[in-house]
Amino acid sequence: MKILGIETSCDETAASIVEDGFTVLSDVVNSQVEQHAPFGGPVPEIASRSHLEVIFPVVRRALDDARSTLGEIDAIAVTNRPGLIGALLVGVAVAKALALALRKPLVGVDHIAAHVYAAWMDEGRERPPATPAIALVISGGHSVLFATDDLFDFRIVGNTIDDACGETYDKVSALLGLGYPGGPIIDRLAAEGDPRAFDFKPPLADRDGTDFSFSGLKTAVRYRVTGENKKHPPLVLDDVNRKNLCASFQRTVVDGLLRATENAIDAANARSLILGGGCAANSEVRRRFEEFARHRGLDLRLPPRSRCSDNASMIAGLGYHQLMRRGPDSLALDAAPSA
Ligand code: KG4
Ligand code: ZN
Repeated sequence: MKILGIETSCDETAASIVEDGFTVLSDVVNSQVEQHAPFGGPVPEIASRSHLEVIFPVVRRALDDARSTLGEIDAIAVTNRPGLIGALLVGVAVAKALALALRKPLVGVDHIAAHVYAAWMDEGRERPPATPAIALVISGGHSVLFATDDLFDFRIVGNTIDDACGETYDKVSALLGLGYPGGPIIDRLAAEGDPRAFDFKPPLADRDGTDFSFSGLKTAVRYRVTGENKKHPPLVLDDVNRKNLCASFQRTVVDGLLRATENAIDAANARSLILGGGCAANSEVRRRFEEFARHRGLDLRLPPRSRCSDNASMIAGLGYHQLMRRGPDSLALDAAPSA
């Protein structure tokens, strides 16, 4: 069964054709980052307009790359939650129109659940993660821990109490004058810095819970740079200090992610750990979670970097399983900004 997946929840317009949930026939992503870069983060109105401009060419290319025609598509899957509402509506409207015109089933897919599915999709049908599993989704908009016993029904067991992980990278990057999106830039500079140069404390370090917090760390970096809390003089942002700040910030973020994840794994007695979302592409996240999983004997599922950030193959892939398990959604399908 060939499914066309459509993704427009934030600042990537994406379309993909996936066969039977696992075989990716095409995977087209049109990034808008250059349009949002001057503002240091996604601007909702710019996102919606840009999706409108490119959605049809993106779908066309996904079909061409897969050497398919619209007539050969068996169903349409679309991200309908969570995300920027105006951006989501573009994808949902296009998906509904195609489903209606082609008389094909429509499936609304949860973007965060699809980030989790991405880690399984690339391993193939025969290699589902062992259950019970804990999934950590860290992206521009979310930092969530899920527990699952069957890979389809998730319960939230941890969440950020303030900013999201990727959002924090983007804000710290803006503070250091480094550009948007901040994650890949900080990741690159951190590799050349000293992670202990600045003594930032892991967020919520004193707790044994499963929640995350990032805004205190963001403020700590700002204070260290501006000296506004009067504990230090303002920092000269030369090359060395910048790299050391990036490395120390990144080390502290990963400390916090690991602490909460380990607590969730212990509570669920989990056998596998699934990572997803744009920040799962981070080198330090990957290195330290790999080390942690090896040490704990966990089945770690880390999607390839290209499938950590937003894409439509994870939407088409998860859409297939939803269609098989509970059938299509109606054409009254709504977009929703929150999960
Ligand atoms: O999953 P995603 O593409 O979109 C959302 O659903 O939000 O995630 C985008 C976020 C951005 O905040 C970006 O800075 C972050 O992922 N990101 C990274 C890295 N690559 C992207 N964060 C840390 N390290 C990276 N290498
Ligand atoms: Zn995402």
